[in-house]
Amino acid sequence: MFHLWYWVRRRTPSSFQPVILITGCSSGIGLALAQMLYKRNQYRVIITARNVGPLRERFQESDRFWIRALDVTLPEPREALIKEISAAWGGVNILVNNAGISYRAVVEHMTEKDEYVQMATNYLGPVALIRLVMPHMREIGRGKIINVSSVSGMLAMPTMASYTASKYALEGLSEALWYEAKPLGINVSLIQPGFVRSKAFTRVYYTEKSKSARQESETYGDYYLNMAPFVERFMRLSLSDSGGIARSILRVIKTENPPLWIPSTLDAYVFYYLRRFIPRRILLPVLFQLLPKARRWGRLYSHKRR
Ligand SMILES: NC(=O)c1ccc[n+]([C@@H]2O[C@H](COP(=O)([O-])OP(=O)(O)OC[C@H]3O[C@@H](n4cnc5c(N)ncnc54)[C@H](OP(=O)(O)O)[C@@H]3O)[C@@H](O)[C@H]2O)c1
Repeated sequence: MFHLWYWVRRRTPSSFQPVILITGCSSGIGLALAQMLYKRNQYRVIITARNVGPLRERFQESDRFWIRALDVTLPEPREALIKEISAAWGGVNILVNNAGISYRAVVEHMTEKDEYVQMATNYLGPVALIRLVMPHMREIGRGKIINVSSVSGMLAMPTMASYTASKYALEGLSEALWYEAKPLGINVSLIQPGFVRSKAFTRVYYTEKSKSARQESETYGDYYLNMAPFVERFMRLSLSDSGGIARSILRVIKTENPPLWIPSTLDAYVFYYLRRFIPRRILLPVLFQLLPKARRWGRLYSHKRR
């Protein structure tokens, strides 16, 4: 649906070579986007990752394509990188906050430290980067902030509460920022992928408690044993891959005034319309019934009165 919008709003390239900073390029969506921008001379690009070794083997640096180490949770490297970019190119014109992690743990199995790691990666780090790039964007009266969110930013999932919270936080901030940035010529967009056919499910984080609870006899064991294959199956069967999401980001990069919310997979559209049109009191019980064996969860240890 947005494709026509993108086509209408696309501008003929000018001599201006926007500076694009992307986080989390070691795999998945970030890597796919890096590959797409590698050969596009109309942009100056900085791809980043915590470990840049494999990126240096894959890509050749040039005067318009940089590879830099960046852990988005660390203040000093964030500031040093923006300083380096500002000294060479004036500043960042397009920020793609893509880096993200997902804990698989029920609320009771997270510690405060785990919560912090989740939020620092998916929310606090991206927001700190936004704060660092905005002064330059404000000064020149243009810029784009593209935050990679998720369907989990519109609908919650059991065993992924903290991930959901981090994406809801990113969505809320981006919506408020949209108002603040619009008068300054800065666009804010949220890319909202649903299930993506990728290996991302092999990269989920477990907490000490959620790691040891993955058996039927453990409290919450049945939650994990049912939810993990459920999510993995949807990811494996998804029609969208990381390249497809990277193309959505590229369309936003090329579009003059992209919209704030950009559902980027078919299921993201479905969830978006479900959330909009089905009353909440009905939606949640219906979705609960659709979760695998959810009616039997906790049957061995729940003290709920029947
Ligand atoms: N895959 C999906 O189904 C899906 C669905 C909805 C939304 N998303 C969102 O899409 C974005 C990209 O995910 P993906 O699917 O491409 O997963 P992915 O392959 O796991 O990529 C995540 C990237 O983030 C990086 N990262 C993690 N912690 C970091 C940190 N502290 N500092 C810098 N980089 C860090 C990872 O680097 P390391 O190698 O260093 O860990 C990796 O490059 C995420 O924001 C995710 O929440 C994904």
